[in-house]
Amino acid sequence: MKTLLVTGAAGLVGTALRPLLREHYRLRLVDLQAIALQEGEETMAGDLCDSAFVQKAVAGVDAVLHLACVHGPAARFESTLGPNYQATLQLLEASHRHGVQRFVFASSHHVLGQYPADAAEFFDSLPPAPDSYYGMSKVFGEAACASYALRGGPAALVIRIGNADAQVGDARRLRIWVSIRDLAQLIRIGLEHPEVVNEIVYGVSESPRPFFANLRARELGYRPQDNAADFLASGYLDHDAMDPKTSGRDHVGGAYAAASLASVL
Ligand SMILES: NC(=O)c1ccc[n+]([C@@H]2O[C@H](COP(=O)([O-])OP(=O)(O)OC[C@H]3O[C@@H](n4cnc5c(N)ncnc54)[C@H](O)[C@@H]3O)[C@@H](O)[C@H]2O)c1
Repeated sequence: MKTLLVTGAAGLVGTALRPLLREHYRLRLVDLQAIALQEGEETMAGDLCDSAFVQKAVAGVDAVLHLACVHGPAARFESTLGPNYQATLQLLEASHRHGVQRFVFASSHHVLGQYPADAAEFFDSLPPAPDSYYGMSKVFGEAACASYALRGGPAALVIRIGNADAQVGDARRLRIWVSIRDLAQLIRIGLEHPEVVNEIVYGVSESPRPFFANLRARELGYRPQDNAADFLASGYLDHDAMDPKTSGRDHVGGAYAAASLASVL
């Protein structure tokens, strides 16, 4: 069984993914704090901004799933520098040196979040327009993955995740929601598909009016099992019920696009 390093494993997505990934990989779980283990897992607590720790975390693994980051519409630029820029670069460099074969990077739809929702039918191929310092840091992470992928590895699959909450909260998220089993399917494509060298796909399930066509994912064999319309939360807000000022209902990135950048400098 291959060993997969999962960063940010204590977070929302990492915690939900673990049972699905354990079926296929030995997991090395990294986060700022130690994690209670299941069979087939090991854990290393530490800060990915520490390059010596990153070297130890990467040694002996076959592949990396990089989830760790700071996020949020109010995340200051300075707060992203260590966890989102430096840590990502250190992980890629250590993966390169240790001969790690595959790197799956959790990016975000927020790299396109500043686009108005009516700017395109599908947003897949538009140039980045991040809606936040967080979104900007994901653009950097994607670029760094591409550099390493074309400089001898690791081969990289970037997944621009939509929204991975357990249920769909509102009309905007209906267009970008992903179930955990669909996200796990994409991650497996990133870790196993022979054609993956330097790819970007969208981490979204089926939905009635998607922002992303996700054609490359489908070419790589992605067949989503779930439809966002079947997972509406009990307090689901349709478009008209969303606050027109603060919800960012008319932008791809929602509240991130509505928040002021200058106010968090
Ligand atoms: N949850 C979503 O809907 C969603 C949507 C789009 C993209 N994503 C991306 O998916 C990934 C996981 O998201 P999440 O919702 O689980 O986030 P989360 O905040 O729940 O988890 C992130 C984890 O990273 C860890 N971490 C942060 N800095 C670290 C450091 N320096 N060293 C070690 N660990 C560190 C945190 O402790 C936390 O446990 C993120 O990269 C996020 O950008 C998530």
